[in-house]
Amino acid sequence: MRYLVQPEFRKSIISREIYGNFAEHLGRCIYDGVYVGEDSPIPNRKGMRTDIVEALKAIRLPVLRWPGGCFADEYHWMDGIGPRERRKRIVNSNWGGVVEDNRFGTHEFMELCGQIGCQPYVNGNLGSGTVQEMQQWVEYITCPDESPMANLRAQNGRARPWSLKYFGVGNENWGCGGNMRPEFYADQYRRYQTFVRNYGQNRIYKICCGPGTSEDAPNYEWTEVMMKQAAGMMDGMSLHYYTLPTENWNRKGSATAFGASEYYDTLRHALFMETLIRGHGAIMDRYDPDKRIGLVVDEWGTWYDVEEGTNPHFLYQQNTMRDAMVAAATLNIFNHHSDRVRMANIAQLVNVLQALVLTDGEKMLLTPTYYIFDLFKEHQGATLVESTIHTGRAAQGVPQVSESASVDKDGRLILTMANLSLDQGAPIELLIDQAAMKFENGEILTGQAQAHNTFEAPDNIKNRPFEAVKCSRQADETRAEFVLPPCSAVRLSFSK
Ligand code: AHR
Repeated sequence: MRYLVQPEFRKSIISREIYGNFAEHLGRCIYDGVYVGEDSPIPNRKGMRTDIVEALKAIRLPVLRWPGGCFADEYHWMDGIGPRERRKRIVNSNWGGVVEDNRFGTHEFMELCGQIGCQPYVNGNLGSGTVQEMQQWVEYITCPDESPMANLRAQNGRARPWSLKYFGVGNENWGCGGNMRPEFYADQYRRYQTFVRNYGQNRIYKICCGPGTSEDAPNYEWTEVMMKQAAGMMDGMSLHYYTLPTENWNRKGSATAFGASEYYDTLRHALFMETLIRGHGAIMDRYDPDKRIGLVVDEWGTWYDVEEGTNPHFLYQQNTMRDAMVAAATLNIFNHHSDRVRMANIAQLVNVLQALVLTDGEKMLLTPTYYIFDLFKEHQGATLVESTIHTGRAAQGVPQVSESASVDKDGRLILTMANLSLDQGAPIELLIDQAAMKFENGEILTGQAQAHNTFEAPDNIKNRPFEAVKCSRQADETRAEFVLPPCSAVRLSFSK
């Protein structure tokens, strides 16, 4: 298979935030997940699990979205500040009707982001919250001067403001965020965003609620209305798309027990992301030809039936090499569209949907999807370059190989490839055009499609060195040959 890479043909910058994540007050994502509380016997710093924070630092997690999701449009942020024992206990009506005691609120979220070293992305409540509430939250977090909310923040132990760039004005307002028609939401967005103010030096990147999409309903109308009515008042627009193996939300299928046909169906559905980005991107281009507004894919990933014996509202699922292939193919798509896609947040961080981390009491494991984020991390902030692969089909309309290529600030070339076939290796003849480079190193994640990590065998699937690359360098080009094993993802780095 011929693979042509042209490092001199520079395209868009791959925004670091494409490698972002999402943590909602849902199931065991926050409580019994990343946040265990200061009194827990599980090693923690200010209540945040140290092992999870270290794992997220290792993949350079750039941005974390919180507090939802559907939870965001029922969340009243003042319930989650002040002494913990006095915080309001509410019902989490979206996710199982469990008691939410608000132990984890604004201060804790900012602490978590600080420990990880990532940007916070706060999603405001437009569905059931007031304009005043939204305005005051931004003031509370960011105002450096004497003000009612800055004073309240100081009373709660934080004199200095935090810096906050990303703010979402509602979530899924066409559904759980208020069942609004696009015209109605567009007007609401225009009104609410007016009061999302910049305090001091802080500059907010305002994210308008974009379409929820599926293959049957890509929802282009929503994007058209938002762009027509509110393009000048937004910096980004969200897009949500989940991958199911079937078209049936009531029988999504098991995360671990599936056959080849279901595997390829899942991949085919995941690859629909490309059609969505092109379709919504084309509408955005008509109103915003300079691509000022970012497409923010702030919920994506696989969604299966929950693991047997777990609360159906908690969305806890295992994570296999199939998920790793979905993640690799999707991240390659985002890289290729980084001129428009400025952020993406896989759902979700811990113990929910396509999680990077799973926990069981004090035990913790990193999923195959985590290792894909580790494999791809060198693309963060690098420049996309032209690349073309002459791939055939694996099966059921799924192309065999997915790829993307970038050049980082030191001139290193990073290639990420995934062989989506379950049974065919992919022999690659790589030509790096007009550049004499040497092979530096490579890594691979591979295994049977159903292979996954368990609390008993947490290192079953992980990245390993990949050195089987025959490389020859000429004056003005580089050639390399290697074989991608079936169901594998590979990262190769070349330097001058
Ligand atoms: O990620 C789970 C849920 O999926 C989110 O709360 C919601 O926004 C979406 O429908």
